[in-house]
Amino acid sequence: MDQQLFEKVDQYISDLVAPEDQVLQETIQSLDEAAMPQISVTPTQGKFLQVMLLMCKAKRVLELGTLGAYSTIWMARAIPADGKVITVEFDPHYASIAKQNIAKAGLSHQIDLRVGKAMDVLQELIAHKEEAFDFVFIDADKQPYAEYFELALQLSHPGTVIICDNVIREGKVLDKNTTDERVKGVQRFNQLLASNTRVEATIMQTVGAKEYDGMAIAVMK
Ligand SMILES: C[S@@+](CC[C@H](N)C(=O)[O-])C[C@H]1O[C@@H](n2cnc3c(N)ncnc32)[C@H](O)[C@@H]1O
Repeated sequence: MDQQLFEKVDQYISDLVAPEDQVLQETIQSLDEAAMPQISVTPTQGKFLQVMLLMCKAKRVLELGTLGAYSTIWMARAIPADGKVITVEFDPHYASIAKQNIAKAGLSHQIDLRVGKAMDVLQELIAHKEEAFDFVFIDADKQPYAEYFELALQLSHPGTVIICDNVIREGKVLDKNTTDERVKGVQRFNQLLASNTRVEATIMQTVGAKEYDGMAIAVMK
């Protein structure tokens, strides 16, 4: 694999169609300042999410895994003024940085940041009969991806698009003997995705500034 070439082409694409403004640049900087990991989506992936949201005319978005709210900001910018993003982060320190970044982006009125475990928040949303979401982005811990997906389906309507990040893991998904719990988690999820009759789905390999990986894209029938 030519990682250097992938990075150069990723930069070329983001210069063309996904330039970061100051808010997005400062959001990335805030991660270093707060000693947080640099594991946000890339600008081209942020733009990809925006295009997906616009394609399905998303007004109500659910995100699992906020980190510093980089992807959250990209998504909130693609919904109408009366739209809403609920994003879930279980680390209170990360959530406090995300909250600041959301405020700096002027999006506090549209982004509802829930601090807690994704599983608990999903169950709460179902219990409170939360209105269905138009778009779900799953980007939290990998082991329970299959469960997150099943619960997200309970919060979906026909046409809801669900995207799950990091489902190829540098090709490690091919290793049947893996002991890596994250890889096992996405292997289990990918199987479930393939056999689930409620969705039409595919998996796209992703290369670029981040390591080789993939995104699952599902639409509820
Ligand atoms: C890959 S990062 C999210 C990146 C973010 N979506 C972006 O692109 O800017 C994954 C995040 O999920 C959070 N997380 C991990 N396990 C979680 C859980 N069980 N519930 C909620 N959040 C969790 C981590 O703390 C981390 O901030």
